[in-house]
Amino acid sequence: MLIDFIAGARPNFMKIASVVRAIKSRELAGGKLRYRLVHTGQHYDDNMSGAFFEQLGIPKPDVNLEVGSGTQAEQTAAIMLGYERLLLENRSDLCLVVGDVTSTMACAITAQKLCIPVAHVEGGIRSTDWTMPEEINRMVTDSITNYFFTTSETANENLARSGVPKDRVFFVGNTMIDTLLANIDRLNKPSLWEDLGLAEGDYFVITLHRPANVDRGRDFIKLLTAIGEGVRGKPVIFPVHPRSAKSLEQVEGIPENIFLTEPQSYLEFNYLVKHAKAVITDSGGITEEATVMGIPCMTLRDNTERPETITVGTNELVGTNPDALKPFLDRLFAGEWKEGGIPEKWDGKTGERIVAELEKILCR
Ligand code: UD1
Repeated sequence: MLIDFIAGARPNFMKIASVVRAIKSRELAGGKLRYRLVHTGQHYDDNMSGAFFEQLGIPKPDVNLEVGSGTQAEQTAAIMLGYERLLLENRSDLCLVVGDVTSTMACAITAQKLCIPVAHVEGGIRSTDWTMPEEINRMVTDSITNYFFTTSETANENLARSGVPKDRVFFVGNTMIDTLLANIDRLNKPSLWEDLGLAEGDYFVITLHRPANVDRGRDFIKLLTAIGEGVRGKPVIFPVHPRSAKSLEQVEGIPENIFLTEPQSYLEFNYLVKHAKAVITDSGGITEEATVMGIPCMTLRDNTERPETITVGTNELVGTNPDALKPFLDRLFAGEWKEGGIPEKWDGKTGERIVAELEKILCR
């Protein structure tokens, strides 16, 4: 039985790494499932892709569709064409997609149209915000998914509400957290630590790349100004995503205590988060990692598909208005940030649970 594991963009790589590790260890113990790792090429820079494979010990992809950049429709079309060609030449028995990026949706559609069942890792989460391409990707993918591997009870409830029968939903936990826990003792101090004279618990990490925050240069600068002024002179490390870099080229006035860097690799980025005073972000995955590391996290979005990072974890939803940030920073500096706990089943064993379920599904 051959399963395609699809990975396309940076946040996919840490999710797929855990499933690859689990299936390989079952293979050594006599397991019958085989996998083919398909990289769509949605992200292609070394620091957005190759470095993650290397650091996380993910094997070289068996196939790279090399689709590269484009509009949402161009990327979707290119991935579908490339993946369809592959499946027509060499069919698999199941297509496993992770997360919510364009590659997730495009491969799910392609497989299902060829009557190949789809499994979705991180299925069922919803922000209800249709301005985010990721929300469209989630909804389309879940509407044609056969087997849902979920990270939270909220995801289970969302799926139940949309009529998905219970026997197709497997509440297994979070593969991104598997990867974090597997690497937590290997995190690397990046060279910028010494260069900037950083001290533990005395700097901030920010990541911003959502179109709503970064695509309009003037609003982006307002947000950065609010951060630069609000952190009381502390250094702020900002690993800049290519989309944000393009936008920053057009503007001036970045506060002096905000230090722009290239996107960091996994071990370096999470080292920075683990030792930060707090993280300010518009990413979803980082709110999960900050929760598990117990680091205060402020999300610059109006909604989240990961409510457990707020109800259980260290995350708070600030919104996208720059003025909204101050009361949250005041609370942080007053030492009154909540401690947070770990959401259910985020225990490092999710990949194993997924592979055990896949064996039951495919080998019965
Ligand atoms: C994608 C995901 C988003 C995820 C983010 C993390 C979708 C819809 N969005 O958004 O969920 O949080 O990745 O990184 O799939 N680029 C490079 N080098 C690369 C990759 C991209 O320069 O290796 C440039 C592209 O040319 C493009 C921009 O970055 O201009 C955006 O890339 P794209 O893959 O379209 O979407 P992201 O914004 O990265």
